[in-house]
Amino acid sequence: MAENDSILKINNIEVRYHEVILVLKGVSIAVPHGGIVALLGANGAGKSTTLKAISGLLHHEEGEVTDGSIEFVGERIHKLGAEQISKRGIIQIIEGRRVFEHLTVEENLMVGGHLRPGGLKERLDIVYHYFPRLKERRNVQAGFVSGGEQQMCVIGRAMMAKPKLMLLDEPSMGLAPLLIKEIFEIIQRLNREEKIPILLVEQNVKLALTVAPYAYVMENGRIVMDDTSERLKENPDIRDFYLGLTDVGGRKSFRDVKHYKRRKRWLT
Ligand SMILES: Nc1ncnc2c1ncn2[C@@H]1O[C@H](COP(=O)(O)OP(=O)(O)O)[C@@H](O)[C@H]1O
Ligand SMILES: [Mg+2]
Repeated sequence: MAENDSILKINNIEVRYHEVILVLKGVSIAVPHGGIVALLGANGAGKSTTLKAISGLLHHEEGEVTDGSIEFVGERIHKLGAEQISKRGIIQIIEGRRVFEHLTVEENLMVGGHLRPGGLKERLDIVYHYFPRLKERRNVQAGFVSGGEQQMCVIGRAMMAKPKLMLLDEPSMGLAPLLIKEIFEIIQRLNREEKIPILLVEQNVKLALTVAPYAYVMENGRIVMDDTSERLKENPDIRDFYLGLTDVGGRKSFRDVKHYKRRKRWLT
């Protein structure tokens, strides 16, 4: 990926929590203008930490970028506070689809709009255009809509802020396959039609490699592989370890995978 094509560049960052717990070790990631990039990896690899380092939410958890830099449209942002970063248009959708349960769906969306004054009605119309279900449910308390609708609600809330970069943390988590499909189609349309660049964190590797043309694989706080999704899908280690497929396309048994995990061929 050519360097100057990137809207976001993470350059060799190190992240620590509470000054001592080293979690990210030399992570570099680039997101091209208008692109979707996936960040993959097992639980605890450091994916959410990476997103929080970009959005500045890290500061709220006593985390800090202690080495390297993060550049957004050429500006170094890793020392800025979360509010300053969100004003620049970087919006993180944290995992667990946290809505304001006692507010209606529409009130939840309006909260997202407050980051940027003016044109709220137009932006609401755009959100309802992409999420017609939210329009139907606009007056229902967000705590009472389905999990899928809550996920739509938090993505819609982010849209209300007119994001210049969207950081999405595991949008498929805990949702039924049909809903996941629906939500990911919308995510792709937001990227294509609204030209919003997206950094997508997903544990559903198959899905992520379908949606994002380029992906990074993280393990223990390091990037161990990055390539086009086409090539990653053909990579035997990805097929074995993340897609659960053997060379002949059959399902691997849990024991095989566990054994594989211990070998970690490409991680050393
Ligand atoms: N606030 C925190 N303080 C200390 N350690 C943390 C904190 N948040 C996450 N960690 C640790 O950092 C590592 C990466 O976590 P995380 O970024 O949430 O991984 P992932 O999103 O890939 O599951 C884990 O070992 C986790 O325990
Ligand atoms: Mg996470």
